[in-house]
Amino acid sequence: MFLVARKVGRPAPRKEKNYKFRIAGKKDFNKCFDLYADLHKGNNLNKLRKLVFTVSGGKTIIVAMQCDCNGKEIMLAGVDMYYINDRDARENTIHEGFIGVAPEFEGNGLATEMRAFASKVFQGAGVSGISSRISEDNVGSLKSARRQGFCVVEKYFDQTDKKYRYYMKKTF
Ligand SMILES: CC(C)(COP(=O)(O)OP(=O)(O)OC[C@H]1O[C@@H](n2cnc3c(N)ncnc32)[C@H](O)[C@@H]1OP(=O)(O)O)[C@@H](O)C(=O)NCCC(=O)NCCS
Repeated sequence: MFLVARKVGRPAPRKEKNYKFRIAGKKDFNKCFDLYADLHKGNNLNKLRKLVFTVSGGKTIIVAMQCDCNGKEIMLAGVDMYYINDRDARENTIHEGFIGVAPEFEGNGLATEMRAFASKVFQGAGVSGISSRISEDNVGSLKSARRQGFCVVEKYFDQTDKKYRYYMKKTF
C-alpha cells in the first residue's frame, strides 16, 4: 500500500462548475470519515482503516468540494477512498474501498468525476488498474463506474449483505 502511495501522482485539482476535485489533505480526513459514517447508518470506518487513511489518505482519498462562485471551497460533497486488499496485491490493482456523495449533491456527476480523477492519480503509480465491489441493486454507482470504464469481472453472493454484488475492474 505504502509503496503505491509513494508513487502516486499529484494532478492539479480539477474544477467543474461549482465543484473542485482533488486529493484530500489532513484537514479533510475527519470530514471524510464523518461522511462515510453518515452514509453507513452512523457506523464508522474501523480503527485500522482509519489509521491507514490517516497515514496514506493524502495520497489515496479523492474529495469533491462544493465551491462558491469565486472558487472558494464551501463544504465536502463527496469522497472516494482507496486501499489495497490481498487480491489487489496479487492482481496489481488498487481498490476503491468506498465512494459516497452527500445526499444533497447526488445526481450531479460527482461520483463519475471523482472516479475519473482517481484514474489520473493512480495511473503511473505502478498499478495496472482499479478494482471495486458494487451491489447489483446500486444502479447509480454501477452507471457511474461503467461510464468510467469499469467492467464486471465476476458476480458473487455477499453473505454479509445478503445480496449479489459485482467485482469490477478498470484496467489502465
Ligand atoms: C452511488 C453514488 C456514489 C452515486 O453518486 P452520484 O454523484 O449521484 O453519481 P453520478 O451523478 O456520477 O452518476 C450516477 C448516475 O446514475 C443515475 N442514477 C442514480 N440513481 C439511480 C437509480 N436509482 N436508477 C437509475 N439511475 C440512477 C444518475 O441519474 C446518474 O446518471 P446520469 O448522469 O445519466 O443522470 C451516491 O448515490 C451515493 O453516495 N450513494 C450512497 C453510498 C453508496 O451507495 N456508495 C457506493 C458504494 S459502491
